[in-house]
Amino acid sequence: MTAQPAQHARTQVGIVGAGPAGLMLSHLLSAAGIGSVVIETRTREDIEATIRAGILEQGTVDLMVSTGVGDRLLDKGSRHDGIEIRFGGGSHRVDFRSSVGRSVYLYPQHEVLRDLIAARLADDGDIRFGASEVSLHGVTGTEPVIHFTDADGRPTDLRCDLIAGCDGAQGTTKWSIPDGRRTDHFRAYRHGWFGILAEAPPSSKELIYAHSDRGFALISSRTPTVQRMYFQCDPEEDADSWSDNRIWDELQSRVAGRGFSLNEGRIFQRSVIPMRSYICDPMQHGRLFLAGDAAHTVPPTGAKGLNLAISDAVVLAQALERFFGTGHADLLEGYGRTAAQRVWRAQHFSWWMTSMLHLAPDAGDFDRHRQLAELDQITGSAAGRTLLAESYTGWPIELTNPRSVVAEALSLTHGRWP
Ligand code: PHB
Repeated sequence: MTAQPAQHARTQVGIVGAGPAGLMLSHLLSAAGIGSVVIETRTREDIEATIRAGILEQGTVDLMVSTGVGDRLLDKGSRHDGIEIRFGGGSHRVDFRSSVGRSVYLYPQHEVLRDLIAARLADDGDIRFGASEVSLHGVTGTEPVIHFTDADGRPTDLRCDLIAGCDGAQGTTKWSIPDGRRTDHFRAYRHGWFGILAEAPPSSKELIYAHSDRGFALISSRTPTVQRMYFQCDPEEDADSWSDNRIWDELQSRVAGRGFSLNEGRIFQRSVIPMRSYICDPMQHGRLFLAGDAAHTVPPTGAKGLNLAISDAVVLAQALERFFGTGHADLLEGYGRTAAQRVWRAQHFSWWMTSMLHLAPDAGDFDRHRQLAELDQITGSAAGRTLLAESYTGWPIELTNPRSVVAEALSLTHGRWP
């Protein structure tokens, strides 16, 4: 193959990664009249077809609705006003509406991405799918560069005012923060989740988080005909060594009680998911700003990953609007601190839900009774339910720049969806 001549391009904000953080950031910047180019290694088809989890906090729904990407969400997503927590053979509902007057939506992440991609392309947005060999240069200077090879094999230099690293947990943009300047706060949990997708009707109107003598299980849903379920397992478990019958027996035994049983069906996807907590500290360096899973990972128990990506994008968009509108870098300088405050809260909530509901490999009788007492207190008192509901439905998104397009959109529609 003959070497192709290098191309040169320029934009205000170069965004690495077309996941929730990168696409939402590009969408919000566009509404504020700020240019961006999104560089993504996967293809559009791959992104839109990879079925991912999706519990959207009320603030995430508000944002999507108020910025014009919420139509399909309101139409196809389902509003959940509570969750069920099962333990000790009984079911205990935490009602979000009566506790905090808020709700969440079940709407898978790949649908959010489809909506954002469609909106960006309708607005003449620039997304380079299928890129490879992406690298960052000069992030501590005033004109950093993203070097990449485009889908047609052409090497490209994209000069930017700033770079947003939104390339997910496996991404490499965070490594542009030198070792001596970066603290990696990391925790691996001693259990993983065995996750399946099954062709079956829903077993419950709301999500079920189950504590049992055999460990944790979660019953979630994707569509009226596809269900998503998980049970706690050894992180080294080999998913392919399990027969379908064994999987169903395990799931059924963990949610059993008062005649309840799960609807079963053909299992068409299975995998073991590791559970980790991670925060890259700081979330910025020079003119590089990390957002979403590129900067942090939470265990899935609290359903916070996607929502944190969106709240990072909101905080960063407000700071960028101030920077490009007034030349003031104060909000940009405070971006990492503001974003990390919410991330640590979400880390705590995800860790707490995990520790309350999962059995540690060496858990004894005392630990089990202590967990049951905690679950009893959380579900049995208004204060306990309120704490859980407030965290699960999400804390208010930080409006650091009240004059920004995004802050105005959010304050207009906050909590008004049906
Ligand atoms: C999911 O639907 O995959 C899901 C829902 C809630 C969680 C985690 C995953 O806490």
